[in-house]
Amino acid sequence: MNKIEFKNRREELMGMMGEGSMAILSAATQKIRNCDVHYPYRQDSDFAYLTGFPEPEALAVIIPEREQGQYILFCREKDHYDQHIGLEDACELYGADDAFPITDIDEIVPCLLESCRCLYYPMGYSQTFDEQIINWINQLRARIRNGVVAPNEMVALDHILHEMRLFKSEAEEKAIRTAVDIGMRAHKRAMRFCQPGLYEYELEAEINHEFIRNGCRSPAFPSIVGGGKNACIFHYTENNCILNDGDLVLIDAGAEFNHYASDITRTFPINGHFSPAQKTIYELVLKAQQAALSKIYPGNQWNEVLKVAIDVITQGLIELGLLVGKFDALIEEEAYTRFYVPNIGHWLGMDVHDTGDYKVDNVWRELEAGLVMTVEPGLYITAAEDIAKEWWNIGIRIEDNVLITENGHEILTAGLPKTVSEIEAFMAGEKS
Ligand code: GLY
Ligand code: MN
Ligand code: MN
Repeated sequence: MNKIEFKNRREELMGMMGEGSMAILSAATQKIRNCDVHYPYRQDSDFAYLTGFPEPEALAVIIPEREQGQYILFCREKDHYDQHIGLEDACELYGADDAFPITDIDEIVPCLLESCRCLYYPMGYSQTFDEQIINWINQLRARIRNGVVAPNEMVALDHILHEMRLFKSEAEEKAIRTAVDIGMRAHKRAMRFCQPGLYEYELEAEINHEFIRNGCRSPAFPSIVGGGKNACIFHYTENNCILNDGDLVLIDAGAEFNHYASDITRTFPINGHFSPAQKTIYELVLKAQQAALSKIYPGNQWNEVLKVAIDVITQGLIELGLLVGKFDALIEEEAYTRFYVPNIGHWLGMDVHDTGDYKVDNVWRELEAGLVMTVEPGLYITAAEDIAKEWWNIGIRIEDNVLITENGHEILTAGLPKTVSEIEAFMAGEKS
């Protein structure tokens, strides 16, 4: 993404900030494992959104009315190994109007705050950062008799940025499409590689191989590869069991490309062929997903997408004898929650569970063009005495990534086999 993209975002933010205001945002801290081993660094998404600056130990300050330059970046100076971006390139390459050493923040930021009445900052995310802000403000308060006035209004910057992040620009859409394409390649590779007797982590290795060879050094979240009953365990990440002939395997994996995530789930038979019971449940989940997708268009509300999926699932479970009773009563008592997680998906973007409210003024948000979401119904049937044995340990989720468009939606993951026949044909080696 070029620096104009980030400048546009800062300008959009400044357009929302009032007179005498200032925004402060801190980079993510570097996480060190033990001794001095460094994890790969991942910038805080809000900081990356507004600055594109990739280093830790950085602080962005935005002052719309500052004549000498509205965007100030504090960062590390170039060291003698030339490892850090440094002040000059912070301006040259990352568009800062002014750059100062991060070691000078305690000296400079309180001075900048003197002209600020309203301070925007992300509240309550980091105790250290909260304390630092309070400390700077208290330094000004202590000088009240010298005529210094501290900011008297605080605004949650995170909420503003999170709403901005919800609406994807062209450049963001492009990055998500790349993350999705790489995610689909990885799923296809695992699907083709799969056979009974492998360990779950061997499929994970295929996924990681495809991610890394396409420039995604890390997944967007820990990949889930759950064979048989493991597919019914949420957030299963052990991925260390054998994949058995006759079972299904659920893979929930997505790539992170330039800070943008994909989040894709496919469930398929380990031996390449769905059993009749597996096919029945799979097609019910697929029917629920298709119903949910049909509700994705601008103007419809978020909860309508979930509601129709629950209706289809409940009706289907009644027909299969997995739920007993009248449709309306079962809906009322939420009987489906025994097998279905009452959720339909989430926003997708820089974070896999991306930012943005689902309700606005206590009303379910209306879908709008430019939003990206997942649609991921599932059924998870664990073994129980009151359930016919044929359904035991069938866990199925189908998760697609969807861009809402002016006319409806586009399924970004449409290139990945999804129906029973598409999956079986693909696993048998047919082209897709
Ligand atoms: N992979 C996490 C989710 O599907 O929400
Ligand atoms: Mn997922
Ligand atoms: Mn998801």
